[in-house]
Amino acid sequence: MRLAPQPSAQSLRLIVLFILATGVTTSPVLSSGCPDRCVCDDQLVVQCAGQHLTTFPVNLPLATRQLIISNNRIVELPPLALNYLSDLVYLDCSNNSLTEISESTFGNLRKLAYLDLSFNTLTRIEDRTFGPLASLVMLRMTDNPGLSEIHQDAFAENAALQVLDVSRNNLTVLNITSLIALPALRSVGLSGNPWSCESFFLDHSIHTHTVCGSPADMQSRRLGEVGLQLRTLCHQSLGSWDYLFFIVIGFVIFAAGTVSAWVMGVIMVLYERYIKKKDEQLDPDDEGESGGMARNTGAGSNHAIVPLLNFEDCL
Ligand SMILES: *[C@@H]1O[C@H](CO)[C@@H](O)[C@H](O)[C@H]1NC(C)=O
Ligand SMILES: *[C@@H]1O[C@H](CO)[C@@H](O)[C@H](O)[C@H]1NC(C)=O
Ligand SMILES: *[C@@H]1O[C@H](CO)[C@@H](O)[C@H](O)[C@H]1NC(C)=O
Repeated sequence: MRLAPQPSAQSLRLIVLFILATGVTTSPVLSSGCPDRCVCDDQLVVQCAGQHLTTFPVNLPLATRQLIISNNRIVELPPLALNYLSDLVYLDCSNNSLTEISESTFGNLRKLAYLDLSFNTLTRIEDRTFGPLASLVMLRMTDNPGLSEIHQDAFAENAALQVLDVSRNNLTVLNITSLIALPALRSVGLSGNPWSCESFFLDHSIHTHTVCGSPADMQSRRLGEVGLQLRTLCHQSLGSWDYLFFIVIGFVIFAAGTVSAWVMGVIMVLYERYIKKKDEQLDPDDEGESGGMARNTGAGSNHAIVPLLNFEDCL
């Protein structure tokens, strides 16, 4: 679905961005100090959490490595200001009012390893949004109640991605073809979405993987397991066949048990008869004794064997 002119439009945008960026580098506003209501330390951590900010902080140190702007009401991540922070490794934007992430938002954050966009009001994620984040290891994007669309190739270029959490959004489908191809990915959180089973394709023969159906405990499972789990969940309509299968198998096992018990019983009785007969043939003097014994036990409770012995006595 990528159009040919898109990449060049993207690079043009980046070039314009860099020209603008070099122009503003001379401005002292962006290059020194610490933003209002934020705390900056010498470890290059800028902490602005819970400061009732409505806009992205200005005057951020250029070498910032960790930026925490969670628990505010920031409505937009301005690409220009953000892409100055080319050493940024950790960015926590959780619990804000972000509605949109554009293609150029993360254009220059090649060292970013952790990104948290949870508890915002995002509605859709486009194809190239996370493309430039070549070092991204963990992406948390949970609890965006209106987030109903993630482009099938949104994570295709995040080769370092290990943990992806898209729990508790409004997703009905997620094409996991490009996710499965990610070499480092080891866990995907999918719970709490209204996955639609009608759009479920996990047919390896046609190589289309679309995820649906998700129990609460699916967080942090290996993708392979997730696939299997989803397959089971989404085929719940076929459950009656499974039950029928189990009933049939159960009956077969029960019948086989009964038959083998009966056969064993018959064999034991015949064997006892055989031993008895053999004893009688070898030692005919004992006949009276054993007959008496049989008659004695006949008064007892062992009715199964006694009539047999009595019958033999009559021969
Ligand atoms: C979000 O931030 C607000 C303060 O802006 C805070 O009261 C609330 O508890 C936070 N919610 C979560 C889920 O962290
Ligand atoms: C979730 O998506 C459905 C359509 O798939 C939409 O009708 C509903 O309003 C969305 N929910 C929220 C909270 O945006
Ligand atoms: C899933 O995405 C891949 C490319 O990433 C595409 O080729 C495939 O057609 C998509 N499947 C569906 C069901 O949309």
